[in-house]
Amino acid sequence: MRIAVIPGDGIGVETTAEAVKAIRAVGEVFGRRFDLEMLPWGAEHFLQTGVTIPPDGYAMLRDQFDAVFIGALGDPRVPDNRHARDILLGTRFELDLYVNYRPVKLLDARLCPLKDRTPADVNFVVFRENTEGLYVSIGGRFKPGTEDEIAIQEELNTYKGVHRIVKHAFEFAQAHGRRRVCMSDKSNAMAQGHALWQRVFKELAPQYPGIEARHLYIDALALLLIQNPAQFDVIVTNNLFGDIITDLGAALQGGLGLAASGNLHPGKTSMFEPVHGSAPPLAGKNVANPMGAILSAALMLDHLGLTAEAAAVEAAVQAAVNARQGTREIGGTLGTRETGDAIAQGVSKGTPQG
Ligand code: IPM
Ligand code: MN
Repeated sequence: MRIAVIPGDGIGVETTAEAVKAIRAVGEVFGRRFDLEMLPWGAEHFLQTGVTIPPDGYAMLRDQFDAVFIGALGDPRVPDNRHARDILLGTRFELDLYVNYRPVKLLDARLCPLKDRTPADVNFVVFRENTEGLYVSIGGRFKPGTEDEIAIQEELNTYKGVHRIVKHAFEFAQAHGRRRVCMSDKSNAMAQGHALWQRVFKELAPQYPGIEARHLYIDALALLLIQNPAQFDVIVTNNLFGDIITDLGAALQGGLGLAASGNLHPGKTSMFEPVHGSAPPLAGKNVANPMGAILSAALMLDHLGLTAEAAAVEAAVQAAVNARQGTREIGGTLGTRETGDAIAQGVSKGTPQG
C-alpha cells in the first residue's frame, strides 16, 4: 500500500514520526508492506521555494496513493497561513473528501474534565461536512484597511453536499449499531442556508426507521454535550460547526492531543490527520502527545480495510493510557518519542487476529 505522509509543521513533525512507528510495527506484526512516501510540504518548504503544494500535487495524492497522512500545518512565519489552506483545505476540496469523521471516545474516566463521567458516557462520532459551508472562500473585502471596509464571507450549502453527509451519518449509524443521529444547524437564525439542512434531514430520517433522528440548534448541542454527553451517538453538522464542536469533543476525551480524524470520500483516496494543530511553542520539545496522530493512523488502516491492524493499534493506545505510558496530558511522564515506542511495542506484543 502506498501512503503519502506530510509531517507538516511544528509538533506535526514529531507526532507523525510516532504514527509512522505504529504503522511500521503493524507492517511487521501482520506481514503487510506499507510504502510510506514523505512529502516535505509545509511552512519551511514554502518559505524556501515559494510553493505551498506543486501544481500536480492534488492529482498526485489522488492517483498515486491509497491514503494520505498529514501531521499539522501552521507556522508564525507564514502569518496568512496560505500553505495550510492550500495543503489541508485544498486536499479536502480537491480530493472531494466530503466526510470529516471525528470519533470522540473517552479512553479513561480520569481524562474527562467533567466530573463522574466514564468511558460509557463519552462515545460518539461527529460527521462534519468537509467541502462546503463557510470554508469555501466565497466573498471578498471591499476597501480593505479603511473605515469603510466591507467584508463578506458566504456560506455555501448545496443539496448534493448536505444530502451526502447526512446520508453518510445515517448509513454509518446503521452499519455500526448506533441508534441515534443528531443533526445540528442554526436554522432559527440562518433561515435560508440551513432550511436546506432541515429539508434534507426530514427527507432522509424516515428511511432509517430503526434510528432515532433528532435535531438540535448548535448552541443547544454545545450545552448538552457538556451537561450529558452520554445521549449522543452520531452527530452530523456543517463545516464550521463541526470544527468547533470537535474541539469541544476533544476536550471531553482528554485533550486535543488525543483526538483523531479522517477526511473521507468513501471508495477514493482519503486523508487522515490528528485534530491538534502545530502548536509552535511546543515544537521540538518532545512533549506533544502523539496518541491522536497514532489513532488517526488507526482510522486510516481501518479505512483501507485493515480492520484487525487498526484494532491492534487502538488496543495498544488504550493499554498505554491505562498504564499511564504517555505524556503529561494523559497523566504520564514520557516524552513524545517514548510514548510512540511504548505503543509500537504494544502493537508488536499484541496477538494478531484475522
Ligand atoms: C481542523 C483545523 C482546520 C479547520 C484549520 C487548521 C483550518 O482547525 O482540522 O479542525 O478549521 O478545519
Ligand atoms: Mn479545528
